Amino acid sequence: MAAAARALAAALLLLALALALALCAARPARAIGVNWGTQLSHPLPASTVVRLLQDNGFDKVKLFDAEDKILGALKGSGIQVMVGIPNDMLADLAAGGKVAEDWVAKNVSGHVHDGVDIRYVAVGNEPFLQTFNGTYLNTTFPAMQNIQAALVKAGLADKVKVTVPLNADVYQSPTGKPSDGDFRADIHGLMLTIVQFLASTGAPFVANVYPFISLYADSNFPLDYAFFQGSTSPVVDGSVTYQNTFDANHDTLVAALRRNGFGNVSIVVGEVGWPTDGDANASPEYAQRFNQGFLTHIASGQGTPLRPGPVDAYLFSLIDEDQKSIQPGNFERHWGVFFYDGKPKYPLSLAGGNGSTLRPARDVKYLDRKWCVLKPSANLADQAVGDSVSYACGLADCTSLGYKTSCGGLDSKGNVSYAFNSYYQTMDQDDRACDFKGLATTTTVDPSAGTCRFIIEIDVGAASRPVAGGAAAVLAAFVLSMVF
Ligand SMILES: *[C@@H]1O[C@H](CO)[C@@H](O)[C@H](O)[C@H]1NC(C)=O
Ligand SMILES: *[C@@H]1O[C@H](CO)[C@@H](O)[C@H](O)[C@H]1NC(C)=O
Ligand SMILES: *[C@@H]1O[C@H](CO)[C@@H](O)[C@H](O)[C@H]1NC(C)=O
Ligand SMILES: *[C@@H]1O[C@H](CO)[C@@H](O)[C@H](O)[C@H]1NC(C)=O
Ligand SMILES: *[C@@H]1O[C@H](CO)[C@@H](O)[C@H](O)[C@H]1NC(C)=O
Ligand SMILES: *[C@@H]1O[C@H](CO)[C@@H](O)[C@H](O)[C@H]1NC(C)=O
Repeated sequence: MAAAARALAAALLLLALALALALCAARPARAIGVNWGTQLSHPLPASTVVRLLQDNGFDKVKLFDAEDKILGALKGSGIQVMVGIPNDMLADLAAGGKVAEDWVAKNVSGHVHDGVDIRYVAVGNEPFLQTFNGTYLNTTFPAMQNIQAALVKAGLADKVKVTVPLNADVYQSPTGKPSDGDFRADIHGLMLTIVQFLASTGAPFVANVYPFISLYADSNFPLDYAFFQGSTSPVVDGSVTYQNTFDANHDTLVAALRRNGFGNVSIVVGEVGWPTDGDANASPEYAQRFNQGFLTHIASGQGTPLRPGPVDAYLFSLIDEDQKSIQPGNFERHWGVFFYDGKPKYPLSLAGGNGSTLRPARDVKYLDRKWCVLKPSANLADQAVGDSVSYACGLADCTSLGYKTSCGGLDSKGNVSYAFNSYYQTMDQDDRACDFKGLATTTTVDPSAGTCRFIIEIDVGAASRPVAGGAAAVLAAFVLSMVF
């Protein structure tokens, strides 16, 4: 009897195992992540965003800090999390083990015990960018070590890995051939120290790869080489022909790792994406072409020539951020695959190929259905018009105005109205924000035309009303010169 029961139990166990394996196989080895930035004047509630992630099948999310509200909403979501440490905290974290222990206790341990699936701590964000002039060269690695020691002390080092997202400018190839890749000469020693650390802790090398920036920075860059449909200017590297810049860039890193004896350190693509507005090459059409091409490419599982197999990646980004610095360019506020309100910008299948496309955020609450525009009777020659536009665009977002942007086709009055509305919505439709010395008026007729959307902001509730502005004001004069 007992033997029969044991046999039955064994058979059941085998069946369960087979079932589990079948389920694993049925689930696509997709695991696509996304970057969730929060520099918005009117952020959607964190719970709404988490449901948006779940509805769309994002398995992983990368954050730029460790806000309580966001981590709280991710609790029990099944979504893996990379928390981030802003660059301005690196010096303090490098200087003191106690500071790192406090950071880990507050921003990792507590949340992990609460059921947030934190897998990585990103120490700094692209700290070795050349535009930072070496500011973070001395503090990044000591900060990583202190965070690692704090995780060990907290008993979390097996589950939570320490890494640093780096811009692809930390490696390069002197010949342009990926196989000649190596780390940047000015930081070569530091890079080896960091890679040695990653290898010894089992953490991945996180690299941000931006074909759009290659195109933006170099008007001779072959457009089709940025995408994934084959190129008229492929790069031939020995027996390998690279048809797209993503593969070539990725393999330049693989070669750099191999050359220095770390050929098996895993690679995570921390940011990859394409913006939709604010520049002639930033359009929904190109963004869809790039992102869908990328997703289909990695869904095939073929990997890159030097690293066949799955590619682990986080799209950049989830939602547009109207308060990001536009120092890199006006496109900077338009990287989202969703608009500010969680509406998809274009059909995108995360599974690659013909899978279901992005779904919008649910139950979004908007402000009233009204806009602020220039009075039809206003005289454009009035000095107050220019001053008002300058003021509005200094405090709100006017990056959809400009050559070959979504609102580039507006006439002069349309330009002014766009600026007025942007400010009015940013200020939560406050009546006083639609005056502009008597030049403005509200309307319930949607002024949107063609590709140009006059937005209605979302209702964030009186309690969390944002303060608009910041460094934006200094850009007002520049914006003014663009609008007229
Ligand atoms: C936890 O992270 C937040 C957000 O990045 C930061 O403001 C805060 O200082 C951190 N807490 C500690 C104790 O370091
Ligand atoms: C880096 O140096 C350049 C040139 O000296 C300067 O214009 C820029 O403001 C500096 N950037 C930072 C982040 O210090
Ligand atoms: C980094 O350390 C070097 C050597 O001690 C020093 O010369 C340099 O000024 C430091 N850089 C910064 C940004 O603190
Ligand atoms: C990488 O290689 C080293 C030594 O060859 C080995 O000990 C380690 O387990 C390898 N790691 C991975 C992730 O394959
Ligand atoms: C998508 O569907 C088209 C037409 O049915 C088919 O030719 C193509 O191979 C499919 N693509 C993928 C990646 O499944
Ligand atoms: C409106 O603004 C756009 C973007 O700055 C500009 O290209 C265009 O010339 C302006 N139109 C008129 C009629 O001023």
